[in-house]
Amino acid sequence: MCGIVGYIGKRQAYPILVGGLHRLEYRGYDSAGVALLSDKGELNVYKAKGKVAELELVASEKDCSGTMGVAHTRWATHGEPSTKNAHPHVSESGNLTLVHNGIIENYVVLRDQLKARGYHFQSDTDTEVLVQLIEYVEQSLGLSLEAAVQTALKRVIGAYAIVVLDRRSPNRLVAARKSSPMVVGIGEGNEEFFVASDASPIAEYTKKMVYLNDEEIVVCERGHELRVCTLDNKDVPVEVKNVELDLTMLDKGGYPHFMLKEIFDQPSVLQDCMRGRLLPEHGRVVLSALTDHRERLVSARRIVIVSCGTSWHAGLIGKQLIEHFCKVPVEVEYASEFRYREPVILPDDVVMAISQSGETADTLAAIELAREAGAFVFGVVNAVGSSIARNTHTGTYIHVGPEIGVASTKAFTGQVCVLTMLALALGEARGTVDAAEYRAVVEELQQIPAKIEHILEQNSRIETLSKIFTYAHNFLYLGRGWNYPVALEGALKLKEISYIHAEGYPAAEMKHGPIALIDQEMPVVFIATHHQQYEKIISNMQEVKSRNGRIIAVITEGDEVVKKMVSEYIEVPETLSCLAPLLSVIPLQLLAYHIAVQKGLNVDMPRNLAKSVTVE
Ligand code: F6R
Repeated sequence: MCGIVGYIGKRQAYPILVGGLHRLEYRGYDSAGVALLSDKGELNVYKAKGKVAELELVASEKDCSGTMGVAHTRWATHGEPSTKNAHPHVSESGNLTLVHNGIIENYVVLRDQLKARGYHFQSDTDTEVLVQLIEYVEQSLGLSLEAAVQTALKRVIGAYAIVVLDRRSPNRLVAARKSSPMVVGIGEGNEEFFVASDASPIAEYTKKMVYLNDEEIVVCERGHELRVCTLDNKDVPVEVKNVELDLTMLDKGGYPHFMLKEIFDQPSVLQDCMRGRLLPEHGRVVLSALTDHRERLVSARRIVIVSCGTSWHAGLIGKQLIEHFCKVPVEVEYASEFRYREPVILPDDVVMAISQSGETADTLAAIELAREAGAFVFGVVNAVGSSIARNTHTGTYIHVGPEIGVASTKAFTGQVCVLTMLALALGEARGTVDAAEYRAVVEELQQIPAKIEHILEQNSRIETLSKIFTYAHNFLYLGRGWNYPVALEGALKLKEISYIHAEGYPAAEMKHGPIALIDQEMPVVFIATHHQQYEKIISNMQEVKSRNGRIIAVITEGDEVVKKMVSEYIEVPETLSCLAPLLSVIPLQLLAYHIAVQKGLNVDMPRNLAKSVTVE
């Protein structure tokens, strides 16, 4: 949450910073700001409530010169979205300016102490405490900027990724992180440095990147080697990674929204996800994580999946896949609950963290707990080099490219695809998978991208269908077995972007309460493909029909039984039961998208949400 960018170098900083903010806007978009050290040596700070475009308007007639600056796009935690609460924040003397992503938990105590020493606060944020504290420490102890940052951060409880600019020191930027992501890009000959919350604002300028670890600070000084050190000022070896990002993934590519593009990307990115892992010529799945850690993974007595939101839904499918193919018990936990409830973690457990962003605070904390208890931790992550990817013992990237739309789509199918391959490979290694079924799933997985393509051809039909339902204030999504997590995911997609209240349930649970909600106003989405308990789900549909509920059914192509029962249906191709979620979720993504568009909402940046939930 919140996106930060910093630049120091030879180029004009403003276009780099604002371009970077646009790339990071998925992290937060309620206000934005930029601070530039101008060519005349003045510190110019511009802020605006709203999106980065508002900031650009404010800055359009101002002096935006300078080859050094910091910028921020905010997702409010402390203090409402407003210009005064937007970052950067400036210290009492006006010398220091700072951008921050994270939460300072002891900010009230620190603020009171600083107020008692004569510091004034202009905003309601926790962040302003940081910049004042650094200045206080610097002035009272006579420290250099980096020493003041180190000393101040030792007094702070919470999470931070910060970049600090000192107007008296035009050749250096200082940055630091703890529990919030930060990456530094190194330009040619150490003449320029980029700092950002992720690689996307940096990738077009350099591939040489350094990911900071917790409680490390970095000094970016023109013409000098990058220096990384601890809060105790001990040098840390600088590990430069060559990061390749497909920049076309960062653009809408002609689609009106990132979300629609990412839905349509699914056939090709799932091919990327399977490439080199699902080997058609050998009819096998090979995952390097499993080859490298075979013993540990094969001998797991239990697998505990920790994740949040959409990734948690993928985890529910993962549970079914792993239990089916590997005969190992699997528990799926909300990371936020797991981390606080003294879970019993045994040394022969494998804890599997699933995360698109790789930065989710609760999932990171769950991993830490699992590691402390001696469990082996496996990551299923999209963002390469992210904190979760680096804090797990091993893992498998989903490789679906950056996901910008706040509502997750291609990352979900990518996670399910990886979990399927993992279950197959682990099942084979454990000797628990039936050879014929293994071959059939491997073969069918290869057909999935083309089958998704086929579903996407119904986009305009789904768009037409969506127009009927924009009136609704509530939706029910019902599915069973493999399609139960899809019901949860369909409901989550709808509520996130259309602001329509939606609940997902196992269809059989309807009778235990939700059926009371059914009337002619209530749309009920049934995921009724031709798999487990098909007949039972047809009975559930009859129950809704006889209470005048409005049914939308996702069905297997050519299912004349359901077609005769309901007027609104979307067909998906036949597939194996265990792969059903990969197909049945696609119409639900499109339905949510089109309903939100019909309602005139900003689907890529829904209110109150942010892509990367780096606060708990
Ligand atoms: C929903 C969505 C969120 C995320 C959740 C976990 O569309 O995107 O529910 O799935 O915040 O995020 P990651 O997967 O980044 O850990």
